[in-house]
Amino acid sequence: MSAPESAQESERKSAQAGEFDWDSLKARADEAATHAYAPYSDFRVGAAARVDDGRVVVGCNVENAAYGVALCAECGLVSQLHITGGGALTHFVCVDGAGEVIMPCGRCRQLLWENARPDLEVLSRSGVRRLVELLPDAFGPDDLARE
Ligand code: THU
Repeated sequence: MSAPESAQESERKSAQAGEFDWDSLKARADEAATHAYAPYSDFRVGAAARVDDGRVVVGCNVENAAYGVALCAECGLVSQLHITGGGALTHFVCVDGAGEVIMPCGRCRQLLWENARPDLEVLSRSGVRRLVELLPDAFGPDDLARE
């Protein structure tokens, strides 16, 4: 019997076939959502993204009795990106606790912008969208340098 295929091997084969394994990335987001702390909204969120070196980072939302302090799932994901070595996100998916794909909120689109390639692929219910479509004419680090 052959050894089980590693995640890297599976990713290499998918890349060769010119397709991205969205099901695997979504499964990581679904799993992340199970760790959400959302007692106030009762709306669990999980997010998962592939980094340009092939690793995967995840996050879940964490709410607070001071409601406005809530951390979106993307905040944890971006923190994990930096903790585990940095890089730029290439593929992203966000789900609710029922496993439905949801879109990142406006604030999180901005957060993703600075930590992803501009052509970051975002899974939506109507197919794959690019972050640059979801946040056109984005404000970014270059704007700060202009003053
Ligand atoms: N939420 C996220 O985690 N990410 C988003 O992109 C949208 C909203 C969370 C924040 C809050 O805990 C709950 O969803 C309801 O808004």
